[in-house]
This record gives sequence, C-alpha cells and structure tokens, in this order.
Amino acid sequence: DHPTRRDFLFVATGAAAVVGAAATVWPLVNQMNPDAATIAAGAPIEVDLTPVAEGQDIKVFWRGKPIYISHRTKKQIEEAQQAPLSSLKDPEADSARVKAGHDQWLVVIGICTHLGCIPIAHEGNYDGFFCPCHGSQYDSSGRIRQGPAPANLAVPPYTFVSDTKIQIG
Ligand code: FES
Repeated sequence: DHPTRRDFLFVATGAAAVVGAAATVWPLVNQMNPDAATIAAGAPIEVDLTPVAEGQDIKVFWRGKPIYISHRTKKQIEEAQQAPLSSLKDPEADSARVKAGHDQWLVVIGICTHLGCIPIAHEGNYDGFFCPCHGSQYDSSGRIRQGPAPANLAVPPYTFVSDTKIQIG
C-alpha cells in the first residue's frame, strides 16, 4: 500500500512547520528559560538579569507571551517618573509599575493593547516601545502615550528573588 500523493504532502508540510517553529523560537528563548514544554505549561520562569546592561532590553517567553525586560537608563527613569499623570491616557504612576528599590527594571508583556502586535523596544517618541502595526507609542514605563492603543502594556506577576534575578509567574 503506497501513501497517496495527498498523504505525502501532509507529512511534508508538517515537517516543514516543525522546523520553522524550532528555528524561530530557539534564538529568543536562549539559555535563560526552562525547556519549551515547561514554558508552555505555564510554569514560573527565573531570569538572570546580570547580562542585561543599562539601556538594554531582553525578550523572554512566559506562558507563550513575549515579556520585555528593560534595564532603564537614568534618563528613562526620570522621564517615566516626571510624566504628569494628567497627560496619560491610562494614568498609572511609574512607581506602581516597577518594584520598589528596583526601579531601573521595567518588566512588561510585549503585546500591544490595541490589536495584539508585538511592539519594538527602544523605538518611538517616548524612549519606550513602538508598535509598528498602527503606530502606538509607549513610554519608558510601558504606558500608552500616542496612537490607538487604549491601555498601558500589562505588567506580568513577578518578584525579585535576588538583586539580579526575577521570577515571572
Ligand atoms: Fe499595536 Fe494596533 S496593534 S497599534
């Protein structure tokens, strides 16, 4: 019994999809996360912040969602703290979005609150995040400042387990 042409095409397509997924996920996940099955199950993840220099952002995945971790510069922190709440569409103080004593670190879910695109870090007019889909601009606290998004980038549940390590989830 030979496989039909249709069976063959199905198998070939499935194999290509698996290769493609592995190729895109691996560089982002890097060595900081547990294996993909654990992440998919929603387990908490620990992230070592030591390699992230001031002014850099990293992206990790938690529960299948991209999480941006920004090591903010002094300028970014000042901008975030000094923005008048009255100028914000979704008013939230910077201090309510970071952990006390660790305000150089911003941790947000990298999903635009407009229609779910992935914003780009260090882009846009507010030294924060820019969503290329419809032009939403988030500031260095991940708060929406311009464009169609209705709300700030969400902050996931996380804690500092040491000065240089966080647990997300
Ligand atoms: Fe980001 Fe529309 S999805 S601006």
